[in-house]
Amino acid sequence: MSTTENRVEFSSKLGFILSAAGSAVGLGNIWKFPGKAYACGGGAFLIIYLIIVAVVGTSVMMAEFTIGRKTHKGAVGALRELNSKYAWIGGLGVLTGFIIVCYYCQVGGWAMYYIAAYITDVKTVWADPMAYFLNMLGANGLPIGALGWGFVFMVLTAWIISHGTAGIEKMSTILMPVLFVMLIGLMIRSCTLPGADEGLKYMLHVDFSTINGTAILTALGQAFFSLSLGMGVMITYASYLSREDNLVSNTAIVCTLDTLVALFAGFMIIPAVFATGIAPGMGGAFGFATLAGVFMAIPGGQFIGMLFYFLLFFAAITSSTSILEGCVAFLTEEKGMQRKTALIGCCVIMEIVGILYVLSQVYMNLKGIWISREGLQYPIFGDFLEYLTDRLLLPLGAFVTTFFVGWVWGPQNSIKEATGDGRNKFALAPAYAFIVKFIDPIAIGAIIVAGMVFGMAIS
Ligand code: PHE
Repeated sequence: MSTTENRVEFSSKLGFILSAAGSAVGLGNIWKFPGKAYACGGGAFLIIYLIIVAVVGTSVMMAEFTIGRKTHKGAVGALRELNSKYAWIGGLGVLTGFIIVCYYCQVGGWAMYYIAAYITDVKTVWADPMAYFLNMLGANGLPIGALGWGFVFMVLTAWIISHGTAGIEKMSTILMPVLFVMLIGLMIRSCTLPGADEGLKYMLHVDFSTINGTAILTALGQAFFSLSLGMGVMITYASYLSREDNLVSNTAIVCTLDTLVALFAGFMIIPAVFATGIAPGMGGAFGFATLAGVFMAIPGGQFIGMLFYFLLFFAAITSSTSILEGCVAFLTEEKGMQRKTALIGCCVIMEIVGILYVLSQVYMNLKGIWISREGLQYPIFGDFLEYLTDRLLLPLGAFVTTFFVGWVWGPQNSIKEATGDGRNKFALAPAYAFIVKFIDPIAIGAIIVAGMVFGMAIS
């Protein structure tokens, strides 16, 4: 990135696209998406998800990009400049991001734990994958390893951020293409396993009877999380763009890349799970315990497994840095803090919440310190954090952002920014205006209300 008028800019068009895609492509695509696609009916879920990304996802992203580039400010400053009554929308996004990054770093640490395990101790992982996973999380005493790697991941995230946004651009430019190539390789390997065709059939067979309200809401929540929307990250990233960049094509490219990675991950994991006959588990265990069983059954599985966890790690670190950057930008630009002080302060709180997140998974339940997962009327702390962000705060952030663009700032101003005052083509501008004004607030409002009514049932 280079500095112009005290404001850094991405040094190249590709740098921005890869950084924004790096933020979007993360644990959400590889760790969460395949499990949800499997649980919500395969092919039909894919179609619903694609429609949601194409309509709601792209429009909210466009809304965030235009707010950021118009003002050249971070989330809070940007909203304040457009209408000072709405600066809190940016603040809400920063808070959401901060909660996410607390647990995100821990799960990123699990990926590192598994890289180490595949290199040094793969026999133990494969002896009993579920027991190994639970053991990592504290089934037999304090989960020192998981906490240690979580800490390392967090420090790494902070270290990259401490080099300024240039660090993010540099890292994304290298890691994103590597990730893409690795993912395609793994997908081809998985789809050509004997027995993989059952999984392919499952992912391609469209049966809309599997789609209910829960599946639609899951797809909506997943889309926001996956595209990094609703918390101002994309506002902040776009604020580093110059007036010459084309926001219309950038939106299309970032949404397409993110969705492709989710689809590749689905087509990598589900066929392999069918080929090996190992029932997929949901949530955390899916990417770790279940997949260990898959790699065990694949020739060259130790190497392929290690590659997979590297991939998960790359995807996670390009996202965690984007979230933390949003928080640090807020503290330095809005609260006048030194970058270093802001970073250290964030890390201390992230570590405390992160420790609680990890301990609440297994260890506290076993010790009877925390309510158990059974029954689910009392969520464990970790589930609660994810529920709070995915079901409530992210959709709320996206809702107020589209409401702001649709009804306060006005779609025409956003379109003017998107096209660079008419220099770039935006054939779908009228559709965008309609969607951001009517469809988005209604659809997103529905998730929030339904999420509150159905509560933890929506995962
Ligand atoms: N999009 C990232 C993922 O899919 C997570 C994320 C959410 C990053 C919100 C930034 C903001 O893992």
